[in-house]
Amino acid sequence: MADDTRLIEVAFPLKQSSLDSVHEKNVRHGHISTLHIWPARRPLAAVRAALLATLLPDPGTPEARQQLVERIGGRVVKTVDKSGSKVKEETVGGVLHWGRESSPDMDWFREQIRRAYGGRAPKVLDPFAGGGAIPLEAMRLGCEVTAVDINPVAWFILKCTLEYPQKLAGQTRPLPDFALQSPEFMEAFLHQGDEKGRTRKKNATSNGQIDFLTVPEADLAWHVRAWGQWVLGQAKQELARFYPTIDGKPTVAYLWARTVTCKHCRKSIPLLKTRWLAKKDKKRVRLTMTPNADGTGIEFDIEPDVPVVGGNTAQKRARDKELGQGTMSRSGVKCPLCGTIMTMEDIRLEGRAGRLSTIMTAVVVDGPKGKEYRLPTEQEVQMAQAAVHELERVYAEIPFGIPHEPLPSVTS
Ligand SMILES: C[S@@+](CC[C@H](N)C(=O)[O-])C[C@H]1O[C@@H](n2cnc3c(N)ncnc32)[C@H](O)[C@@H]1O
Ligand SMILES: [Zn+2]
Repeated sequence: MADDTRLIEVAFPLKQSSLDSVHEKNVRHGHISTLHIWPARRPLAAVRAALLATLLPDPGTPEARQQLVERIGGRVVKTVDKSGSKVKEETVGGVLHWGRESSPDMDWFREQIRRAYGGRAPKVLDPFAGGGAIPLEAMRLGCEVTAVDINPVAWFILKCTLEYPQKLAGQTRPLPDFALQSPEFMEAFLHQGDEKGRTRKKNATSNGQIDFLTVPEADLAWHVRAWGQWVLGQAKQELARFYPTIDGKPTVAYLWARTVTCKHCRKSIPLLKTRWLAKKDKKRVRLTMTPNADGTGIEFDIEPDVPVVGGNTAQKRARDKELGQGTMSRSGVKCPLCGTIMTMEDIRLEGRAGRLSTIMTAVVVDGPKGKEYRLPTEQEVQMAQAAVHELERVYAEIPFGIPHEPLPSVTS
């Protein structure tokens, strides 16, 4: 019987795929993760490496193996940042790094994979495909792909990631009327590819009016942009009252904590793993907690511009840990008022009995220099309660409403 050992059984560019996977997490443009959020989505770099090493046979000798691993993952090099203080590792070469997925080596890999499967594209089945990283990369490697997922949201993401772009590639269709009537949208559409938007396409007349008769048809990407803006517009209209602009700063998000009643003093304890709201070099904001004047509970406040304290990195880290310490640790939850520890089992029991509650801790707003944090107003707390009723109305409009039927027991 022929030896069909695969590369992954004997070697793998582990370091390289880890580095490139971490880098990929910061890619915000053009990555499938920006199409729709999906939990547990695998990084494309790691998936590409795993597929290549699974589909390609082990070349048999340490030298050839090393060469193949390097062709997949490249070499790891150390670089020093501009300030000369931080050394970081990155890959050079290979096909895993974001942007190298169309490197000429990919043609070579496709050819090698076909060869390993008697000259035709192998079939790849992903029965738990989720956000589609595995089938997408398998398609990129020239395989015939079947993706399956039990979750309808994942199923739809898979359709949009794997099927529609392939089916509709190269096709154009007229833009919907609402897009034609949006000056910002048309400005971007008609000036696509212009060098910094300086040259005007002939569809826009000299006085800025659009000559609708000559507007070209749009490809899938522009239709997705148009309908994406439509959805955003609708959502803004429906949700604007829950996200008001106060002092010229639009509300971005509300931060919440679950609460449990302290088994000793019966006061409400927020369950917080950390009190850091932002901990970057230039933005250090934390939530403070102090007992309120009449001793009935705790009061939150926001401390912006938290100073860095400590000499060396380890001391600074230890001080930051102390400053941001929440109420939760591995051993359980410590009541900030009486110091009693409730174990995780105590919390679980309270949760099962339906006795956990929630509290709004802070509001994130969009300031002139990015995110800012402030305490919620009384009105916002009331609005959040009103939103719960709104939820009931929204669910009532959905066929079958909120799912409430019991799940079948595992043993049945
Ligand atoms: C860890 S996620 C997969 C993530 C995926 N590899 C990616 O990169 O996005 C596991 C997936 O399995 C799906 N799943 C769980 N049980 C399933 C079943 N019985 N049949 C089909 N899909 C199932 C879940 O809906 C979930 O999307
Ligand atoms: Zn207490």
